[in-house]
Formats: sequence, C-alpha cells, structure tokens
Amino acid sequence: MLAQLTQPDPADILEGLVEMVGFTREWQYQDDAYINFLGTHPCYRKHGIAKLLHVRLEDMLFERGVNGLYLCTLSGNKAAIRFYQRMGYGVYSVILDDRDRGINTLNYRKSLSAKQ
Ligand SMILES: CC(C)(COP(=O)(O)OP(=O)(O)OC[C@H]1O[C@@H](n2cnc3c(N)ncnc32)[C@H](O)[C@@H]1OP(=O)(O)O)[C@@H](O)C(=O)NCCC(=O)NCCS
Repeated sequence: MLAQLTQPDPADILEGLVEMVGFTREWQYQDDAYINFLGTHPCYRKHGIAKLLHVRLEDMLFERGVNGLYLCTLSGNKAAIRFYQRMGYGVYSVILDDRDRGINTLNYRKSLSAKQ
C-alpha cells in the first residue's frame, strides 16, 4: 500500500513515493498477519500519512478475515515505538540484546475488531 504524490518531480527516481506500509501474502496465517514494512519519506513525516495508510491496511486485512496483527521494531526506534503505541499495539515479548550493543527487539501485536 503506497502514498504517492500526484505530481512528482520528473527527476525524482522514487516517482513521488512518500510512504509505504504492507505485508505479503506469505505473512498471513489463518486469521493473523505480520506487517513487514512501514516507512515514510523523511520529508513527509508527522503529517499523518503512516496513520492513514496503516488504518487502511487494517481495514483491508479485517475484511479478509484477519483479526490479529503482528510486527516488530527495535528499542532505539523512538518514532516507531510512539507510532505503534498510538495505533493500539502492545508489546508481547522482548528479545534482549538481539542486535548486539544492548539493542532489543520489541514484538508487538494488536487485535482487530469491527468498527462501531
Ligand atoms: C514510524 C514512521 C513510519 C511514522 O511515519 P509518519 O508518517 O511520520 O507517521 P504519522 O505522521 O502518522 O505520525 C507520526 C507523528 O506525527 C504526528 N502528526 C500526525 N499528523 C500531524 C500533523 N498534521 N501535524 C503535526 N504532527 C502530526 C503524530 O501525532 C505522531 O506524533 P508522535 O510520533 O509524537 O506521537 C516514520 O517515522 C518512519 O518512516 N520511520 C523510519 C522507518 C521505520 O523505522 N519504520 C518502522 C520500522 S519497524
């Protein structure tokens, strides 16, 4: 799922790509799915783009029968930690010193339910 400028600069090799969030089919198992990437171009952060795309992805997955989402981030990634907490994810396990130098991997999950 992509957010893209409608009139990108022709010199822009990313063709106006500003945000991407997604999972691949292989990461869906029964009613669970794993989100394997999320990123907003540094120039376009803090405008709500990640939230917009993430909510759309959640809606799309829920329609497909997914009701549990999983993802992970590193303990040094403060922006991602704030984002996932704001989106309603909770940490269910921590892999200590997973990447050396005291960096931990935080595993998150979120349950999806029908919107009111
Ligand atoms: C994490 C990441 C995807 C967030 O993307 P984003 O598009 O900036 O996210 P949003 O704009 O939806 O929300 C981010 C912040 O902007 C704020 N914001 C949203 N709309 C805003 C607006 N109109 N004005 C001011 N602030 C706003 C949000 O409240 C949020 O604040 P907080 O982080 O202090 O709680 C981005 O920082 C990123 O790409 N990081 C590098 C890649 C990465 O680490 N991905 C995660 C891998 S695990």
